[in-house]
Amino acid sequence: IPAATDLHVHLRDWTQAEKETVESGTKSALAGGVTTVADMPNTVPKLETAELVAARVQLLRDRSFVDFAIHAAPPVEPSELKKIRRAGAFALKLYPPDLPSFRRLLKGASRAGLKMAVHAEDEKMLAGDRSPDAELVAVRKVLGEVGPRSQVRFAHLSTSEAAHAVLAKKQSHPGLTIEVAPHHLFMDSRTSVARIGEASRVNPQLRSQANSRVMRGLLKEGCFDFYATDHAPHTLKDKLTKGAPGFPGLELALPLFLTRTENVPLLCRMFCEAPAAYLGTKKGKISPGYSADLVVLSRRRWRIDPEKFVSKARVTPFGGEEMRFAIDQVFMRGSTVYREGRFVTQPARLVR
Ligand code: NCD
Ligand code: ZN
Repeated sequence: IPAATDLHVHLRDWTQAEKETVESGTKSALAGGVTTVADMPNTVPKLETAELVAARVQLLRDRSFVDFAIHAAPPVEPSELKKIRRAGAFALKLYPPDLPSFRRLLKGASRAGLKMAVHAEDEKMLAGDRSPDAELVAVRKVLGEVGPRSQVRFAHLSTSEAAHAVLAKKQSHPGLTIEVAPHHLFMDSRTSVARIGEASRVNPQLRSQANSRVMRGLLKEGCFDFYATDHAPHTLKDKLTKGAPGFPGLELALPLFLTRTENVPLLCRMFCEAPAAYLGTKKGKISPGYSADLVVLSRRRWRIDPEKFVSKARVTPFGGEEMRFAIDQVFMRGSTVYREGRFVTQPARLVR
């Protein structure tokens, strides 16, 4: 199958190298059949100036094992947007505290040629146990402020109510897109808490079994545009003592999707072709003119063992689950870059 493009990855590094580095994160990508990642800007320091975007591009050029694109955080100074674009970012990523400025930021981003991705949860509703309504409220606010040609990607949509709201609006607003994460489709809060207890925290939260069932129904009907991991690595200590939200997803996303759905064409569309087209890369399809970024799979049984992850992050609610598909070999631009646990470096390209 074509290699995957993951639109939502936190590679960390810099002051958070104990959680993940560009090297460990992008090797984890290769082991998971992913040859392009889009990095998220909540690094420390966060990616809100052109200077930092340029430094991030340089770090990834030097250390990444896969091609990469970069999301920037909204800058304090609106005039910085064009510079951020020139420095190499392809999109802005908005977090809940940025949503009150959504309309202004959308205008600025589109003038600067930046796409936009939104973490839609209403900040005021996130105190305590992060009600599922926080997502619906934020999604409705955003939907009320987009124009017919706005390009807005809803990151990791987790509730069927919010998904239905976006799907209704999408009919007349084709630039709206929905990204869904493995843990919201294939995991629920009860199962996760039984397996890993307190370490189950992720934003948005894991939801009920009933919700993930409806989400899988929508998935099967082809309602979602992108499958993206939200690979959010943390140390076990940070998960247990600080309640750090997020899981590593790069090494399990592809086999998990296939094991649970047996739907190869749907995976190829949502994890390969559509995200590559969104980034404007000639990847994600096995076709003349497209890069020979490929994954060789076998139907082989194995169990997810987080202790064996290439990623530095080892906490996942999927530990112990049996997979029926395994990644044997990965090619990038026609050369082997991963085979049986061994990695080969190739110059990484910035996608912008
Ligand atoms: C994200 C992270 O760890 O960077 N975690 C997550 O659960 N998705 C940050 C966030 O979105 O809160
Ligand atoms: Zn994220």
